[in-house]
Amino acid sequence: MKTIAIWCRNLNNIIGHQNDIPWRISSDFQRFKRITSHKTIIVGEKTYDSLPNRTLPNRKILILSLNPSLNLTDPSMHSVVTFDDLKTMDGYGYICGGGMIYKLFLEDETKRPDFVVDCVYNHSFDQHSPEEGYIYVTDPVAQLEQHYFKEYINEIDDVKTYIWIKKNLRESYKENPTYQELKEKAKGE
Ligand SMILES: NC(=O)c1ccc[n+]([C@@H]2O[C@H](COP(=O)([O-])OP(=O)(O)OC[C@H]3O[C@@H](n4cnc5c(N)ncnc54)[C@H](OP(=O)(O)O)[C@@H]3O)[C@@H](O)[C@H]2O)c1
Repeated sequence: MKTIAIWCRNLNNIIGHQNDIPWRISSDFQRFKRITSHKTIIVGEKTYDSLPNRTLPNRKILILSLNPSLNLTDPSMHSVVTFDDLKTMDGYGYICGGGMIYKLFLEDETKRPDFVVDCVYNHSFDQHSPEEGYIYVTDPVAQLEQHYFKEYINEIDDVKTYIWIKKNLRESYKENPTYQELKEKAKGE
């Protein structure tokens, strides 16, 4: 399976706190919904647990967990998978967090997503330290700087959106229908 990652981070590279996203931005939620609806998404167990009612309508959810007997909300749409299972699947999967899972995919050159939708909320937390339970994407962002180039998409409600494209796709990405669809949906069209 090929992959695309999507996240919303703030200026400290924070994406989560106490198993939640520490901001609510409706237009960002709408963009996430546009991009991932009717797609297959890949999440870590903690992110799965953090979803409202542990589900997302109209999405097939593949959960990365070392617990094969994890309790699933909707076994017809949700399943526990391993990285090896993903290798045998076709099409694109959308990596939707959280911190551990972004790191696992971005730091391994055999697992790096083709595209990363990087939404950057123009806001920082002045009072925070790693001890306070914040989840960061600092290491994945460093990987982007090394292995990808970026396209600026737009700014809505203080959130700038970029799509990062893996460098080895430089010659071909514009013709890739998945990239074309992703860009339109990221823009809101
Ligand atoms: N702002 C955003 O865009 C965004 C998006 C998504 C999530 N988030 C936030 O991110 C936070 C959650 O992130 P997190 O880093 O704590 O957890 P996570 O990445 O969602 O999940 C971690 C879990 O994934 C499983 N896992 C880890 N490595 C694995 C491997 N090699 N193979 C199989 N399974 C593996 C483990 O589950 P088991 O213990 O069951 O084995 C582990 O406990 C929450 O605050 C959430 O709200 C933010």
